[in-house]
Amino acid sequence: MATTYVVGNFKGGVGKTKLVTMLAYESSQVKHKRTLVVDMDPQGNATSVLAKTGNIDKIDRNITDGFINGDLQKQITSVLPNLDMIGANTAFRSLPRILMKKFQDDDLKSMTYLKTLLEPLQNVYDVIYLDVPPTISDYSDNAMMAADYCIIVLQTQSLSLDGAKTYIAYMQYLADNFDSRLDVLGIVPCMLRPGGRVDETIVQQARDLYGNNVLNTVIRYQERLKAYDAEGIHVGTTTTGLKDSWDLRAHKVFIDVLDELGTHEDAFKEIRGTN
Ligand SMILES: Nc1ncnc2c1ncn2[C@@H]1O[C@H](COP(=O)(O)OP(=O)(O)OP(=O)(O)O)[C@@H](O)[C@H]1O
Ligand SMILES: [Mg+2]
Repeated sequence: MATTYVVGNFKGGVGKTKLVTMLAYESSQVKHKRTLVVDMDPQGNATSVLAKTGNIDKIDRNITDGFINGDLQKQITSVLPNLDMIGANTAFRSLPRILMKKFQDDDLKSMTYLKTLLEPLQNVYDVIYLDVPPTISDYSDNAMMAADYCIIVLQTQSLSLDGAKTYIAYMQYLADNFDSRLDVLGIVPCMLRPGGRVDETIVQQARDLYGNNVLNTVIRYQERLKAYDAEGIHVGTTTTGLKDSWDLRAHKVFIDVLDELGTHEDAFKEIRGTN
């Protein structure tokens, strides 16, 4: 059975897609897990980064066709060994219309359509990452209903925890009203402004509210991480044949995040009795 993660925050540009694509890269290339990224965002940012990562010029499969035809298996694009994606483009803005046509007013069926479509893939992958837009919408509803765990991005330079707080409150609403099974696996502090410093007050406020859910690892601003948007994710080699130290540094933080989230997951499995 695959474990499915959604990376969330109801705030734009906080580093959600960066976290999804980097965790998927480390999970597949370093931890050798069979990994799938499902791009649930019509902006297609994850799709574009992963296409560059796999040197893919043209993607001829996409999630919109999968939602229309009721089959995501035929829409898988291979990126690297152990790393696949189901890509999105702007055509996916039609999701609300697709759901309305298929399910009319059946909210539960409409919200659990992604979950249903992922069922045949459960034995094909070890882990599935869902990238979503920063809105309360059909996209995030479907992702939250399909996921086992949510990983929350906390921007340490914003004035408040609002985007993360709203996300957690909405998770509770889904649990109460639609019986979702989502738990917060971890809250990852991210700092996106170049030259900025980690705002310890915000991290402390988050720790007061959410305790050990807040990771010790902090994702700092790194030019190299920004460059992966245009170049694709990679580890380069220098003229002396050594691995590029800036790449290694960029990757290390996400390997640390994966390891920390892994210890949280072990604790959840014990509570859930699934270990
Ligand atoms: N640690 C980092 N260091 C440098 N740049 C980063 C880092 N994390 C993210 N970025 C850059 O910040 C921008 C926003 O990040 P990203 O696209 O991951 O945010 P998002 O939350 O997915 O945005 P949206 O809400 O639009 O989907 C991107 O240009 C990305 O390359
Ligand atoms: Mg994004």
